[in-house]
Amino acid sequence: MSLSQALDYLEQHRDRFLAELEAFLRIPSVSTTPEHKEDIARAANWVADNLRAIGARNVGVHPTAGHPVVYGELPAAQADAPTVLIYGHYDVQPAEPLELWETPAFEPAVRGERIYARGATDMKGQVMASLKAVEAAAQAGLPVNVKFLVEGEEEIGSPSLAGFIAEHQDLLAADVCLNPDAGMLGPDWPTITYALRGLAYFELRVYGPAHDLHSGVYGGVVHNPAQALAELIAGMHDAHGRVTLPGFYDTVRPLTAEERRALAQLPFDPTAFYLEQTGVPQLWGEPEYTPLERVGARPTLEINGLYSGFIEQGAKTVIPAYAMAKISCRLVPDQHPDDVAEQMRAYLKAHAPATIRWELDVMAGGPPSITDLHTPAVQALAQAMEATWHRQPLYRREGGSIPVVAQMQEILGLDSVLTGFGLPDGNLHAPNENLHLPTWQKGMEALVRFFYQFGQNT
Ligand code: BES
Ligand code: MN
Repeated sequence: MSLSQALDYLEQHRDRFLAELEAFLRIPSVSTTPEHKEDIARAANWVADNLRAIGARNVGVHPTAGHPVVYGELPAAQADAPTVLIYGHYDVQPAEPLELWETPAFEPAVRGERIYARGATDMKGQVMASLKAVEAAAQAGLPVNVKFLVEGEEEIGSPSLAGFIAEHQDLLAADVCLNPDAGMLGPDWPTITYALRGLAYFELRVYGPAHDLHSGVYGGVVHNPAQALAELIAGMHDAHGRVTLPGFYDTVRPLTAEERRALAQLPFDPTAFYLEQTGVPQLWGEPEYTPLERVGARPTLEINGLYSGFIEQGAKTVIPAYAMAKISCRLVPDQHPDDVAEQMRAYLKAHAPATIRWELDVMAGGPPSITDLHTPAVQALAQAMEATWHRQPLYRREGGSIPVVAQMQEILGLDSVLTGFGLPDGNLHAPNENLHLPTWQKGMEALVRFFYQFGQNT
């Protein structure tokens, strides 16, 4: 009875939920750039206000060394109900390059079945789906205790969150963490993610001459820093697409035969999927692993940015004084970001030529994680998804990173159930990020069903 009341409520308040999502998306809460500090504060307060509006208690915007953490809780209608800790992040990635957006990144626009804005999928839409599912379920008395933890530093590696979690262990005590920051493989494929990659992010700076030089007058006697950097990063992979940092694969946990079989049986063609999603003429990577294995269970090294010399229009004959690369590694169990930083240093010590000087900064990072699929929460979510999509969920490993999952495992001993209602073509971190609204609405339904199912199963 009360489940159907909650589902009706979702229907009746659909337009208001969308309007609230739009208001949230209008706040440019970019976490990486200091200019957005006020917007970050506005977004945190916006989440706190929304929590109060849905009846949460003990709502607080908790300052940290970085951006604030928002907390709030709603009690179950009955004593001894289990507790679900819902994780979210209110920060977003930068919107640049702005000129590639069809409509401005922070002016949400509905076109067709999608809403376009930075953060629509990653992850303000998911935060809203969680808040509104709880609002709906609370109408008839919540079947579970709910706690919300919504941070503002996920997109920069959650540097302050471990400290907050460690200091608030009692506040955050729960039976499971529901983390909707992953996604679905397609609108008809509800998905439960059971592994995430970790991250080790670097900035490598190469210095050559004391200042830029005339490339004719000095070409042939100095090692061009752009070339030296290119040689260094080119050497970070071998011809088979394997990373050459010393010891990089030493602790990589191999896939079991059973898991390879399960991933191979996912009912879609990964090669066609990745070609279509990316628009590249051909895929790349370690040939002895399938694309899903390479993304989910193999570590990688990527160049995220490159800068050197003259990059304006026209021609300038110059030997630049300086070259810089942003480089990140995606890590899998049981690699650790600190070890990979050492391996990067060892590689540079062994390969950097004496003709240049180099500096390495270690930036964002986070360990990989694997979550247990044999838990009451996963079972309840699977049942909820099946009732919503009339199809059993797929179980996959995801290539992206969400640092909080390992933090909660380590500090609270708390497992997460990872899901989300964004689609692979949602353009996360890219121009024209968007959220498929019918899937978003189904997601809310699935979450309401999950609360009932989990309350009943446990
Ligand atoms: N939601 C993403 C991670 C993700 C993407 C999970 C797609 C599943 C499917 C998250 O917000 C993210 O982008 N994380 C960063 C973390 C990093 C800065 C530590 C990432 O993966 O780059
Ligand atoms: Mn993200």
